[in-house]
Amino acid sequence: MQYIEELGQYEGSEVTLKGWVANRRNSKGLVFLILRDGSGFCQCVVSAEKVDAAAFEEIEKIPLESSLSLRGLVVKDDRQIGGYEVQVSGFDIIQEAAEYPISKKEHGVDFLMDHRHLWLRSKRQWAIMRVRNRLIYAIHNFFQSRGFMQMDAPIFTANASEGTSTLFETDFYGQPAYLSQSGQLYGEAMAMAQGRIYTFGPTFRAEKSKTRRHLSEFWMIEPEMAFYDNEKNMDLIEEFLRYLIRDVLENVREHLELIGRDISRLEKADAPFPRITYDEAVQILKGERDVNGRNSIKTLEEDLKKIGEDIAEKKVKIDEYESLLAAGGLKKGKINYYRNTADRLKNEVKELEEKAGNIPQWIDSALHFKHGNDFGGSDETVITRLFETPLMVYNWPREVKAFYMKRCEEDDRYVKGVDVLAPEGFGEIIGGAEREDNLELLLERIKAHRLPPETFEWYLDLRRYGSVPHAGFGLGLERFVAWICHLPHVRETIPFPRMYGRLTP
Ligand code: 4AD
Ligand code: MG
Repeated sequence: MQYIEELGQYEGSEVTLKGWVANRRNSKGLVFLILRDGSGFCQCVVSAEKVDAAAFEEIEKIPLESSLSLRGLVVKDDRQIGGYEVQVSGFDIIQEAAEYPISKKEHGVDFLMDHRHLWLRSKRQWAIMRVRNRLIYAIHNFFQSRGFMQMDAPIFTANASEGTSTLFETDFYGQPAYLSQSGQLYGEAMAMAQGRIYTFGPTFRAEKSKTRRHLSEFWMIEPEMAFYDNEKNMDLIEEFLRYLIRDVLENVREHLELIGRDISRLEKADAPFPRITYDEAVQILKGERDVNGRNSIKTLEEDLKKIGEDIAEKKVKIDEYESLLAAGGLKKGKINYYRNTADRLKNEVKELEEKAGNIPQWIDSALHFKHGNDFGGSDETVITRLFETPLMVYNWPREVKAFYMKRCEEDDRYVKGVDVLAPEGFGEIIGGAEREDNLELLLERIKAHRLPPETFEWYLDLRRYGSVPHAGFGLGLERFVAWICHLPHVRETIPFPRMYGRLTP
């Protein structure tokens, strides 16, 4: 048995492929199957001349997603996905599928999410998972080749690290325990033992709202480095992200193309990342400071106008298709085509209307932003729309950041935190910081955050026994995949998303 992804080695010879029928088209005496075998998609042609009549009749009617094993000759065909076609000489049906619920017509997202266990088979979802897998591989390559140790933090924990409002509480033999919000505190202990480490594990946050950026369960990569200050931390972040961008461009470019990613935008992102302070970011947000001649508020107003024009144009087209359909007398193929196109355009209009509906709120929230607050999702969108590369925002007001961040010597109302915001409106993908390494100051912050000091005793030990400057960061894998693939929502970046209102499938 061979795999579709290796067909290039078998040009001119017979192969056996096993997979599922992703698509079927019948034409006189020929059946064109798109076979999906997990490794790829390939057109397989069954000719009435090459198989017996009963078998041909069977394959002519084979339902989508039926499983089968087939044999045939590999021929080069540049017009086909993958570049090869298989001319089938024989096949065995493994299971004839029941009527498949996901069809070519436009499905709503809720329907697709309810069928996530099947939706994962569709080409776009398949490609997204391939990109995710490549990123995971490249993340390990990056750290392992630079002397970092991968170490695992526990998932049951007794302390909160990222605020008490998003904790999932569970019962640990009669004692309350929380599902880990971050491996960082343990990462710090492990860095004091091994120098440079990274954790890569599931992370849990109870986020009781539906947004395009929040999952209840997500995967985070958290490097932690002894003897690093926040400058070195930012240098590492930049080296890391640019390495990953280059890696996907090199290794999963065709998958990104399949998803419809504008590759040139990713290529542009592999350039030095601007580093700006929180104070500067606030000015950019409020339109008091331009970025490369672009003003946050003015570009939003221009976009609003442009979206309005797009909507009007699409509505004209929808009317055209609908009047053609209403006039009747069309062949079945035409009817389906017009109906699908009209449905697609309607979905696009809905999306554009949603976008347009958001913009006035974004402008309003940007103009009224209060210095000292944390940025909301829309504020991040407004800022990052002006940038082509990820953007690093450092020196944050102490009050909006976690207890462990080191104060700035020059002004202790600020801490040495860094957020990395992905461009094109995506927003935060990394949160990191230099850690407070002074025992008294750290204890003072734990109390100020009203956290129970006794659960942090072990963590405070790290400041008692050879405390050193150290720093680290956390990359949210799903947010990063969403940006790399330019997806509207993180729910498509993980096989089975867990989020507010979604526990199944
Ligand atoms: O900014 P956060 O909360 O930082 C930490 O947890 C630090 N302990 C990391 C560190 O310094 N070691 O989270 C880090 C990243 C965010 O930037 C975001 O990418 C992701 O984790 N993230 C989420 N992703 C999906 N859904 C959520 N609910 C997320 N919350 C955070
Ligand atoms: Mg954060």
